[in-house]
Amino acid sequence: MTSRTCLSIILAAGEGTRMKSALPKVLHRIAGLPMVAHVVKAAEIAGATDVALVIGHGADEMRKAAEKFAPHAGTFVQEQRLGTAHAVLAARDAMAKGYDDILVMFGDTPLIDAAALGAARAKLAEGAAVVVIGFRPPSPAGYGRLIEKGGKLTAIREEKDCTDEERKIGFCNAGMMAVSGKYALDLLDGVGNANAKGEYYLTDIVEIANARGLEVVATEAGYENALGINNRAELAEAEAIWQKRRRREAMLSGVTLIAPETVYFSYDTEVGQDTVVEPNVFFGPGVKIADGVKIHAFSHLEGATVAANADIGPYARLRPGSDLAAKAKVGNFVEVKNARIEAGAKVNHLTYIGDARIGAGANIGAGTITCNYDGYSKFFTDIGAGAFVGSNSSLVAPIKLGDGAYIASGSVITEDVPEDALAFGRARQKTLPGKGKELRERRASAAKK
Ligand code: UD1
Ligand code: CA
Repeated sequence: MTSRTCLSIILAAGEGTRMKSALPKVLHRIAGLPMVAHVVKAAEIAGATDVALVIGHGADEMRKAAEKFAPHAGTFVQEQRLGTAHAVLAARDAMAKGYDDILVMFGDTPLIDAAALGAARAKLAEGAAVVVIGFRPPSPAGYGRLIEKGGKLTAIREEKDCTDEERKIGFCNAGMMAVSGKYALDLLDGVGNANAKGEYYLTDIVEIANARGLEVVATEAGYENALGINNRAELAEAEAIWQKRRRREAMLSGVTLIAPETVYFSYDTEVGQDTVVEPNVFFGPGVKIADGVKIHAFSHLEGATVAANADIGPYARLRPGSDLAAKAKVGNFVEVKNARIEAGAKVNHLTYIGDARIGAGANIGAGTITCNYDGYSKFFTDIGAGAFVGSNSSLVAPIKLGDGAYIASGSVITEDVPEDALAFGRARQKTLPGKGKELRERRASAAKK
C-alpha cells in the first residue's frame, strides 16, 4: 500500500426526500450498519488516513451517529445545498491541512468497494490530477456522462446539460473521485454555477483541470459498486446485493449454508469454518460464531458469542450478551439474554435464561424460567456445574444453585440451594381415592335439575 496521505470527504448533506423518512437518508442501514458507515469503511480500507463528513440535513443526528461509526471523522456543516462542489468546499479546512490524495465520495453509495478507490488513488500516484470513477448503469438516465478523448477524460456533462449526442453515452459518473491534494482547492474554487440547475457542480473540475493542462482520467467500477440509494426500494436492492456477496464469502471461507438466499448476515458477523447454517437464520449485529457450530433453522442471533461445536435451535433466540461455551446446546423456543452457558450445558426446550450463568454440563428442563426482573431491577441467577433443573421451574433471582443441585420439576425456587442438595418448591401432591368419580356424579346430577 502507498504511503501517500489521503483525506476522504464524504458528502452527506442531502435530505433524501424520496426516502420519506424522519431519519437522514444516509443513516438508513444496510446489514445493520448506516449506509454512510459502509462508505467510511471502504475509504479506510482504501487507505484514507482522515475522514471528513459533510453534513447538513439532520446535522445533530448525523453527528451523534458519526461518533459511533467514525469517531475520528471531522464533521463539516454545509448550511445551504448549493451543489456537490460547494459541499466539498465545506471541508475546506480539512483539505487545507495538505494531503497527497483527496477522495470524494457520496454517503448514499454504500456498496463502493475499496479496490475501486485504491485503483483511482493509484492513478494519482502515477501523476493524474483528477481521477473519476465511472460505471455503466443499465439505464444512464439521471447520471452525469463521461466524455473522453484519446483515453483522457475531457468533461462530465450532467444529464440536464447534455446535447442529444452526449446523452447517448453509456459511461457515467459514479460519483466518486480522487483528486490530487496539490490542486484540489484551486480546482474547486474555480467552479461556477452557470448550468441548468444553477448549482456548483463538482464534476466541473474535470474541464477546469483540462484547461490547466492537468491530466484527468476515468477508471471503471462494476455497476453494483456504484449503486446510489434514493428510496427504500433501492435500499432493499443494495441490501440484497450486500447479502449475496457476504453469503458467497462465508461459503468460500468454509461455512455451509444450506439455503444461502434465506440467511441474513450483519456487517460484523463472524462465522467459523465447518459451521452449518440451516435455512432462515438471521444474524443481527455483534455475532461471533466459532468453528463446527450447528445453527438450525429459524434461529435469530444478536450480540452473541458462540464457541466451537455448540448447537443452536431450531427456533432459538440468542439476544445480546449470550455467551455459549464449547458444545453448549440451546434448543427450540429458548431465549437467552446476557447469560453464559458453560461447556456442554443443555437448555433444550421452551426456556428463558436471562442474566445468568449455567455451569458446565448442567441440564435445564423444558419450561424453566429465570425470573430476572421484578418490574424495577434485573437480578442474577447462578447455576452450578452439573446441576439439574426439573421442567417447568421458576428460579426467582437473585438466586444461586450450587454445583450438582437438583430441582424438582414445577418448583418455584426463591432460596439458594446448596451443592448437591435436592429442592422442592411446590405443594405436595394429595391423592383422594374415589373422589374423582364422586365429583363427576355430583356434577352430572346438578346439571339435570
Ligand atoms: C451526482 C453527479 C453525477 C453523478 C451522480 C452519481 C454532480 C454535479 N453530479 O448527481 O454526475 O452521475 O451524482 O450518483 O456531482 N450533496 C451535498 N450537498 C449539495 C449537493 C449534494 O451534500 O449541495 C450530496 C448529496 O447528499 C448526495 C451527493 O452529494 O449524497 C450527490 O448529490 P446529488 O444531488 O444526489 O447528485 P446527482 O444529481 O445524483
Ligand atoms: Ca444522487
